[in-house]
Amino acid sequence: MIDPKNRSGIDAQAEATTDANITLDPADWAAFRAQAHIMLDDMLGYIKKIRERPVWQPIPEEARARFRSPAPQKSEELAQVHAEFMRDVLPFAMGNVHPGFMGWVNGGGTPVGMVAEMLAAGLNANLGGRDHIPVEVERQVSEWMREIFGFPRGASGLFVTGTSMANLMAVVIARDAALGVKVRASGVAGETRRLRAYASTAVHSCVPKAMDIAGLGSDALRLIPVDNRYRIDLRALATAIARDREAGFTPFFVVGTAGTVDTGAIDDLAGMAAFCRREKLWFHVDGAFGALAMLAPDLAPLLDGIERADSLAFDFHKWGQAPYDAGFILVRDLEAHKQAFAMQTAYLARAERGLAAGSPWPCDFGPDLSRGFRALKVWFTLKVLGTERLGASISRCCALARYLEGRIHETPELELMAPVELNIVCFRYRAADQVNAEIAIRLQESGVVAPSTTRIGGRTAIRAAIVNHRTGRAEIDALVEGTLAQGHALAAQ
Ligand SMILES: Cc1ncc(COP(=O)(O)O)c(C=O)c1O
Repeated sequence: MIDPKNRSGIDAQAEATTDANITLDPADWAAFRAQAHIMLDDMLGYIKKIRERPVWQPIPEEARARFRSPAPQKSEELAQVHAEFMRDVLPFAMGNVHPGFMGWVNGGGTPVGMVAEMLAAGLNANLGGRDHIPVEVERQVSEWMREIFGFPRGASGLFVTGTSMANLMAVVIARDAALGVKVRASGVAGETRRLRAYASTAVHSCVPKAMDIAGLGSDALRLIPVDNRYRIDLRALATAIARDREAGFTPFFVVGTAGTVDTGAIDDLAGMAAFCRREKLWFHVDGAFGALAMLAPDLAPLLDGIERADSLAFDFHKWGQAPYDAGFILVRDLEAHKQAFAMQTAYLARAERGLAAGSPWPCDFGPDLSRGFRALKVWFTLKVLGTERLGASISRCCALARYLEGRIHETPELELMAPVELNIVCFRYRAADQVNAEIAIRLQESGVVAPSTTRIGGRTAIRAAIVNHRTGRAEIDALVEGTLAQGHALAAQ
């Protein structure tokens, strides 16, 4: 522990030994510290006063043009570059910090996560491996997730960029479990067993992409029809698998989605888990945003069966409100997980003692060797906010979605396009598709609320995904009023 009373002494020592011509550290630490404090204050002010800004605004050409300059060769003052950031970057960010942001599925972040990210950058820890406490922080979060999701002791977990990566890793782990680890050397090209995977038509596009990257081909993912609540049809799943087996294919992987991207539907995870156990198939759950509904006691029962998955992918950067990026994968069978990624090399040899101790290392469980300290912002977020408060904010998002559903029902010009299962509401102004697409763009350009669009039943839907803990009834009302105002204006044209 640094004694704060000795801080100035340490600074003085650092100043004496720092030669800015040799290292890249500041020549003038005092000036740097003052500027760093300004930068921290600016960002805290940005978050605190986010409601005074537009959600999003179009980027002026002159701002965009300033990002077409040649690579800088000479030093510039930190204050000068920060001023550029304040002028050209900060005002033109995506807007997902803002309570009016409802597009796609984006978390709002918190000041806790932001300062934790700063600490992580200061430590500059590489969590690929070795024996240091940052790796223990990641193991700690992993253990918490194992407990929260009811996975057995000894299950493995790993931070990754996002659910796209976690889903890809799940495909690779299940592929190697099905074909045997030798496939890592031989590749899938000579493989005679033709693997087939299954997911509903509502599955996220990163799953077919994962099949493609894993060498199995996106055509090897069978898309199973959904019921009227956009949940996978279990009977159709069983039929497709039986038919594929008869035709000589090897079914190996079934994806259940806990919160589909379009409508927030949750597949019958318990039914899928039981089916997969019987059929000896790998059961993976894509819980990108929905899995963390586990933290909300009123929503957790919807996820019944998630604890029986062989692997689970989800994001802390969505409903976990951690700053981007913070995806996660949990795998029931640690050995299956490790055998899909571990590699032995002399320069990464393990030891019983010293810095090279602590095997297995995180790099044994994923594709990355160099890994940032994503775990720290999540560890801080979970400790400072607590799972109860996070759960309450998740619950509140779903209550707001139901409020929006109610407002749509009572507004004749609007039509609900899919059942509201969780936090996503798809609706339309009763007019042509182009009108609805234009309404969404105009709402984004208004800077008041920012929904996105999707296609439901072959028609364009305005889609509000309520993920941000700052969103309240005012923003939902603004979405409804804005949609009506834009719809009326377009109809009048
Ligand atoms: C259901 C689902 N799966 C996967 C993803 C991809 O997650 P990420 O953007 O973290 O890669 C998303 C993103 O919204 C999603 O909603």
